Amino acid sequence: MGAPPHNAPPHNAPPSHQGLELAGVGVRFGGLTALDDVSLTVPPRRIVGVIGPNGAGKTTVFNVICGFVVPHTGTLTLGGRPLRPAPHRLSRAGIARTLQGVGLFAGLTLAENVMTGARARSGFVSSLLATPRAARDERRLRTEAVALLDSLDIARYADALPATLPYAIQKKAGLARALAARPHLLLLDEPAGGLGAEEIDELAALIRDLPASAGTAVLLVEHHMDLVMSVCDEIVVLDFGRVVATGTPDQVRGDPAVAAAYLGTEAIAPGDAGPVPDSGDARPPAGGPTGGATTAGRPPDPPPGGPGDGVVALR
Ligand SMILES: Nc1ncnc2c1ncn2[C@@H]1O[C@H](COP(=O)(O)OP(=O)(O)OP(=O)(O)O)[C@@H](O)[C@H]1O
Ligand SMILES: [Mg+2]
Repeated sequence: MGAPPHNAPPHNAPPSHQGLELAGVGVRFGGLTALDDVSLTVPPRRIVGVIGPNGAGKTTVFNVICGFVVPHTGTLTLGGRPLRPAPHRLSRAGIARTLQGVGLFAGLTLAENVMTGARARSGFVSSLLATPRAARDERRLRTEAVALLDSLDIARYADALPATLPYAIQKKAGLARALAARPHLLLLDEPAGGLGAEEIDELAALIRDLPASAGTAVLLVEHHMDLVMSVCDEIVVLDFGRVVATGTPDQVRGDPAVAAAYLGTEAIAPGDAGPVPDSGDARPPAGGPTGGATTAGRPPDPPPGGPGDGVVALR
C-alpha cells in the first residue's frame, strides 16, 4: 500500500481542521449508559486511538462525532467552534469515516463506491446534470478513484461489485472511499478487522503516513493492539463508557487501569498484542488478548438510531 495521492489541496477543500474536542459527553440508550463524561481531543495531523473492551463505547464516540447519536450531556468543538454534527454536514466539516463493518453500496463497483466519497466532497448536484462539464467531472472522479484504489493495491478490482470480493478488499475499498472525501479528520472504526498480518503492517504504514501525505488527523478505534501501539500519538482508553486512561502508547501500556479493563489484572505486554477476541459479548473472555487472530467475519454495525429509546436520533 502506498501513500494516497493527496498532496495537492483540493480547490473546494473544507475549512482547515484545527482540532476536534469532545468535552463531558454522555450518551444513554434507555437505561444503558454508553458514554459517561467522555472528554478527548484530536489535534490537527495527530493520530489518536480509542481502545477498550467490547461494548466500552468506542463506536458510540464515532456516532456522536458523526451526528448519528445525540449526547444528553457535553459539547463538541471543531477548530474551537461549536460542532453540531449531522451526517449530511460531515464532509463539509472535513470529517470522513469508515464503518466497523464494510458498508459499501452493494450495487456499485469499487470505483463507483469510491467516487461517492469524492462526490460528498464536491457536491451531488453537478454530477446529476448531463452537461459536458459533468461528464468531464465524472471522468476525473473516476481517475481519482482508481488512483486511490491503486494506492491500496486494489485497482484491479475497480470494476467488481463488493460482494464478489474478499472481505479484506472490501475493507480497503471502504478506506479508499473515506479518503476520497479528502478529510481533515478521518475516523477509522476497526480498519484491521478481517485483514491478515501482512495487510495490517501495510495498513499501519498507510495510517502513520496520513498526517503527512493527506494532511489528515486520525481517530482510530481498533482492537489490534500492535497496530494501535505502533501508529498512535495518543491513546484514550474507555471502559464501560468512561475514560479510564489517556496517554502515549507507553503510558497506556503500563497503566494499571488499562490492564484492569482488558485483562482483569495484568498489563498489556509488548508482543502480547493481538486483537481482543470479538465474541460479541460485553467483555473479552478472561485471560486477555490473544495473538494473531483477526476479526474476520465481524457483522456490520447495528444501524444507527436503532432500538435504544430516547437519545438516539438521525438529524
Ligand atoms: N443504537 C443503540 N441502541 C442501544 N444500545 C446501543 C446502541 N449502540 C450501542 N449500544 C450499546 O452501547 C454500548 C456501547 O456500544 P459500542 O458499540 O459503542 O461499543 P464498542 O466499544 O464499539 O464495542 P465493540 O468493540 O464490540 O465494537 C454497548 O453496550 C452497546 O450494546
Ligand atoms: Mg464498535
